[in-house]
Amino acid sequence: MLDLLAGKRRSHFASDLNIGNSGERVTLMGWVHRRRDLGGLIFVDLRDHSGVIQIVFNPENEKVITKAHKLRNEYVISISGLVAKRDNPNANLETGDIEVIAEELDLLNVSEPLPVQVNENQVADEDLRLEYRFLDLRRKVLNKNIILRHKIVWKIREFLSGRGFFEIETPILMKSTPEGARDYLVPSRVHPGTFFALPQSPQIYKQLLMISGFDRYFQIARCFRDEDLRADRQPEFTQLDMEMSFVTQDEIFEINEELFKYIFKEAIDVDIPIPFKRIPYQESMDRFGCDKPDLRFGMEITNLSSILANSEFKVFQNAFEQTGSVRCIVAPDCASYSRKMIDGLTDIAKHLGAQGLPFCKVTETGLDAGITKFLSDQEQSEIITSTKAKAGDLILFGADKNSTVYKVLAGLRNHLGKELKLYDPKEFNFCWITDFPMFEYNEDTKNWETMHHMFTMPKEEHLSYFDDPSKIGDIQGQLYDLVCNGMELSSGSIRCHLADIQQKIFNLAGFNDEEIEKRFGFFVKALKYGTPPHGGIAPGIDRLVMIMTGAESIRDVIAFPKTLKAVDLMSQAPSKVDLKQLEELSIKIDIKE
Ligand code: AMO
Repeated sequence: MLDLLAGKRRSHFASDLNIGNSGERVTLMGWVHRRRDLGGLIFVDLRDHSGVIQIVFNPENEKVITKAHKLRNEYVISISGLVAKRDNPNANLETGDIEVIAEELDLLNVSEPLPVQVNENQVADEDLRLEYRFLDLRRKVLNKNIILRHKIVWKIREFLSGRGFFEIETPILMKSTPEGARDYLVPSRVHPGTFFALPQSPQIYKQLLMISGFDRYFQIARCFRDEDLRADRQPEFTQLDMEMSFVTQDEIFEINEELFKYIFKEAIDVDIPIPFKRIPYQESMDRFGCDKPDLRFGMEITNLSSILANSEFKVFQNAFEQTGSVRCIVAPDCASYSRKMIDGLTDIAKHLGAQGLPFCKVTETGLDAGITKFLSDQEQSEIITSTKAKAGDLILFGADKNSTVYKVLAGLRNHLGKELKLYDPKEFNFCWITDFPMFEYNEDTKNWETMHHMFTMPKEEHLSYFDDPSKIGDIQGQLYDLVCNGMELSSGSIRCHLADIQQKIFNLAGFNDEEIEKRFGFFVKALKYGTPPHGGIAPGIDRLVMIMTGAESIRDVIAFPKTLKAVDLMSQAPSKVDLKQLEELSIKIDIKE
């Protein structure tokens, strides 16, 4: 008989039950999480999506005990029985003070022994777990993350719908929108030799929706980017994409602060203080070496360039020759670090681009060890005064061109903050980074590139800089990022709604008129028909869920993620396709060795 449920209905989920249900007859359905045979008496931990509860099979009940003997881990069962108080409660289990005394047992399906365990303390290698993702998702941690993700998205929809935002879908098959990554392309069969691009973000469409007059838009938008992957990047990810007309930067900040406050409270019952701090980009670089500072701890960077301007030390001289700088961080109470531990930090610095890692130890009488011998007494005492270093601290120097110094010291700061446990991992510390430069110079291509994307309105007072090649780097955009605990959570901007300024931006970013017409013709055309001032932002949902769950990897908050090599180990995608499919698309494969 295939209808094994035979009219039976589940009455509860495991975690619905508590001591108040004692004496009730219930019907539960789920998986055998664990089975113990205690000489006659059989205990089964039954698991469903909500949790685990103990089921007891008494030897006196012949109807169930024979069947219970045949149960194995991950078999699918339905049981009916009476809820009872447990003689020996299990404090580790949410339902640990009760159990269900089985009166009926139906085996709904069997399971082969699992290649990866559902048990938290036997976690297998990640590649194997990704191959069997459908089983790994049975693990409590992942199951909780995915369910919390649902709740966050639900609360986002609830909040924004209540604030006059319309959820509008935009195309997945579209013309390429540049967001700085490579596109995933989809060949058209109907128009051989032409391609759609999957959206890197719905940026252009959301701006078009403002031109269409929808005023406030949002979308839980799937985005696709063919870029190098990291612990917080996936080739396919989700944004809360938002856009508003007739808004100022302040209004966008306010609505986002209220949104985040609402979802943190509703989804994880955490009160986050608003408004968030605001730090201009250059200040963030100078204090933390990066534009996504972790504000849960101090260890800020000190610029020693004026103190060491005349230093005899070759490494510092070289830095100044490259119009760079000498800066440092102070690792608290780390003067006792062994040579080996300092070598470990040096490896990190080198990995980030430094030539080496100059250091000094701070003692009661001044500086000691490392590069101290290259520093004059006056330099030593000024370093101590300006860094406020105390005896027992370790000073780590960055001396190079500025971009390298920032990168190295930011990396060491983040490493040491975690290593030295300088912050509470449960804290959520948000800040806005503002006043970004519009353009950065790419030394490799010798071109100016937009720092965020090309649709940002420059600051009005910098508009005249467009005509002065020496000032391009000084143009600031009405651009902002939202950062939490050292992670970039969102980026956004007030958009360029004026066609002539948009044209100048495209030109500066290296597009001539013909290319602009070819790539963005439809958008440039739209800008001419009464475009309202507008702006928006796009928090990354995956990163938000990472922060809210404390997950170390973005893969732990996505049901079916890809690896760092952008493959799906479960379905083995990407994969080769039939020759016939390629022929239909007029595509020939020509792989260069
Ligand atoms: P941006 O490219 O900065 O801006 O992306 C916004 C946010 O999306 C998330 N994100 C990612 N998450 C996971 N994997 C990735 N590969 C990935 N790339 C980006 C981050 C990031 O902060 N259209 C603009 C937004 C706007 O201006 O409104 C945009 O896409 O959390």
